[in-house]
Amino acid sequence: MAVRRIVEQGDEILRKRSFEVTDFGEKTHQLLDDMYDTLVKADGAGLAAVQVGVLRRIFLVINGESVKDGVIEFINPEIISESGSQTGVEGCLSVPGVQGDVTRPYKVTVKYQDRHGDWYKLKAEGFTAKAICHENDHLDGVLYIDKAKNVKASR
Ligand code: CO
Repeated sequence: MAVRRIVEQGDEILRKRSFEVTDFGEKTHQLLDDMYDTLVKADGAGLAAVQVGVLRRIFLVINGESVKDGVIEFINPEIISESGSQTGVEGCLSVPGVQGDVTRPYKVTVKYQDRHGDWYKLKAEGFTAKAICHENDHLDGVLYIDKAKNVKASR
């Protein structure tokens, strides 16, 4: 159990491309467990490894309405198809105090590995699809504010 410090906008690491994960052992499991603790503490919808300062292609997304519903761990994810469109408000734990409107696909299919290296394919839509797209962008150094309109202070 360890809550890690969340890196905030202005830190150059958030603009870097994360590296493929090749280690599915204890070190990665510890990182995933710490990311979970960090996400619970922050009560967020998702968290990418780069947000705790680790340049690895890993993110978590909540599997429901809140982090209490559990999370899905995505390792080396790749969005292999997308369709439709949705526009909604987003925020980011690394960009505190603001929110903005972002247009994303309504449905995505994502291929990814779990913490043991096994491959899965998930079809997601609505909020989960939006969260997957937001977190996947982090792996390529992209922040939602790069795409957002009407960025303003959140309450
Ligand atoms: Co974010």
